[in-house]
Amino acid sequence: MSTSPAFTASPFVGKTFGITVAKLTKKFGRTTVLRDIDLEVKPGEIFCIMGPSGSGKTVLLKHIAGLETATSGEVRIGEYDAADPETRNKVHLALVFQAGALFNSLSVYDNLALYPREHRECNEAGIRERVMHALSILSLEKAANKFPSDLSGGMKKRVAIARALVMEPQLLLYDEPTSELDPVMSATLTEIIATLREQTAVTSVVVTHDRDLAFAIADRMAFVMDGRILGVGRPADFKNPTDPVIANFLNPVIDLKNPRFKQLENSHE
Ligand SMILES: Nc1ncnc2c1ncn2[C@@H]1O[C@H](COP(=O)(O)OP(=O)(O)O)[C@@H](O)[C@H]1O
Ligand SMILES: [Mg+2]
Repeated sequence: MSTSPAFTASPFVGKTFGITVAKLTKKFGRTTVLRDIDLEVKPGEIFCIMGPSGSGKTVLLKHIAGLETATSGEVRIGEYDAADPETRNKVHLALVFQAGALFNSLSVYDNLALYPREHRECNEAGIRERVMHALSILSLEKAANKFPSDLSGGMKKRVAIARALVMEPQLLLYDEPTSELDPVMSATLTEIIATLREQTAVTSVVVTHDRDLAFAIADRMAFVMDGRILGVGRPADFKNPTDPVIANFLNPVIDLKNPRFKQLENSHE
């Protein structure tokens, strides 16, 4: 893996941004999905957002990415309003989607070249340099001419991250980067996220319910439950959580005599 700093040619690289979420509430119709969320992500930090399925993690990430508009409250990236379309011209932000979202009809190389070609950021030789550099960071040089259907799940995730890197991001947002991966591949992805931060000083927000991932790389983490922040702190602060809901999320007790799904039948899940 290259030890040289990545993408030093970009005018964007070098400036890192923090994120401020202030009193963010989101309703879809009558359903409230985010309730009065306050969060601060520091520049250059790896910040993990944890919580069960349906708790609002992806919706929160979309607000940071400017893909959803708040019902009330706001999200700021540095001094910019995340919901303002102009912000994307000032901050290089890349979102690594849960499913990878690669174009199946394009080779890996062309998937990565798509963004710089569309934005006419450099000539074909410059694009090639950026694409090959991103592929080399993720040890994917040999996959350049393959198509997404030829790749394993883990490789697809790596390609999705490489594609995000081609955008020379200052802010990298990951949605469940290790979902559907086996434990070894999850560990690899975890190492990749940590390495990228070392190499590019990028601010990273990682939405995940993978405890191992979060505890291995987070500078700080937040727990979201039912659209609310239950706690924010360093991983060490949650080694022995006192909040029973966080404790149950991190260390669910398997009780074969009194199984959880039997209790769910009577709740309104
Ligand atoms: N566009 C939408 N319209 C209506 N409801 C939505 C929309 N997006 C998400 N939701 C609802 O918001 C809640 C939180 O979703 P999400 O943020 O995806 O949860 P997760 O924590 O699993 O990522 C869910 O109940 C989901 O059904
Ligand atoms: Mg989600």
